[in-house]
Amino acid sequence: MEERIKKNIEEIKDFSTNSHEELEAFRIKYLGKKGLLTSYFIDFKSLDNDKKKDVGQLLNQLKLSAQSKLEELKTKLLSGVSKSKLNDLSRPGDIIQLGSRHPISIVKNRIVEIFSEIGFTISEGPEIEDDWHNFSALNLPEHHPARDMQDTFFVDKDPDFLLRTHTSSVQVRYMENNKPPIRTISPGRVYRNEAISARSHCFFHQIEGLCIDKDVSFADLKQTLEYFTTKLFGKSKIRLRPSYFPFTEPSAEVDVYWGLNNETDYKMTKGTGWLEIMGCGMVDPNVLKNCKIDPNEYSGFAFGLGIDRIALLLHQIDDIRLLSENDIRFLEQFKASY
Ligand code: DAH
Repeated sequence: MEERIKKNIEEIKDFSTNSHEELEAFRIKYLGKKGLLTSYFIDFKSLDNDKKKDVGQLLNQLKLSAQSKLEELKTKLLSGVSKSKLNDLSRPGDIIQLGSRHPISIVKNRIVEIFSEIGFTISEGPEIEDDWHNFSALNLPEHHPARDMQDTFFVDKDPDFLLRTHTSSVQVRYMENNKPPIRTISPGRVYRNEAISARSHCFFHQIEGLCIDKDVSFADLKQTLEYFTTKLFGKSKIRLRPSYFPFTEPSAEVDVYWGLNNETDYKMTKGTGWLEIMGCGMVDPNVLKNCKIDPNEYSGFAFGLGIDRIALLLHQIDDIRLLSENDIRFLEQFKASY
């Protein structure tokens, strides 16, 4: 038996092949279930104890050399295949998978583009804000009941640091650091403690707009909004409903006329044909003063809209949770979007 094993080891050493079939036959011969190794191990059990040590070592050697030869030839065969493939210059290239943008980014980019065309710059501010920029400077002093409109996540109480509840905070920062004329929009993520149902979210995205100059009027605001809704939705009919925001006076809520042409329109507009899309108004003189801008010399308008809601509208997405679940099957559908 020892002689036979030694002979096998020699055979393995000399073995070589370029064929997958021969290599498979080699594997079956030595390492297969009914192969040589298995039958040697069966015979091994009935050997005398004094022989077992030497034969055991030989058997291990046989097993290892068969295994390493198999691996060696496998790698050789595989590299041969890829080499011949590589040399084939007519072979079609690998398809590169394209990624897709998130619907929120798509809509944000589109809105930014629309306002850039009429001279608005882009500005950003921190997501962790202080009380002054998020509330006080915006005419929302401490204990003002309007603060209840935005349930706030506080990071620290003394001094007050919080997760900004709206992008209006960037207005304040921008006015503190820039002189009029000002035309800027500020996209970003905002946070509110609104986890009251499975459908509501603690963060969402807004775009704030601000325009300050001499003689800016409510008519300028309306004209700008009409331009915007025509560009974004292809719809120019809007209406402004009186509303209240502490940082603007007068304030309004903007509705766009969507139409009532089909069942989806009825559903989206709850049968009214109108869709609410944003809040706006003339910047309150107190806010200008807080930012060291003279309200006797300058006036301006501001507006704020929710990107998530508009993304749902534009892409007919019926569940807001899809926007934050990162489900590839959902996200992949936006591949062809701009
Ligand atoms: N900050 C408001 C909110 O989060 C949105 C808003 C309304 C912004 C009116 C404005 C504005 O600039 O003029 O609900």
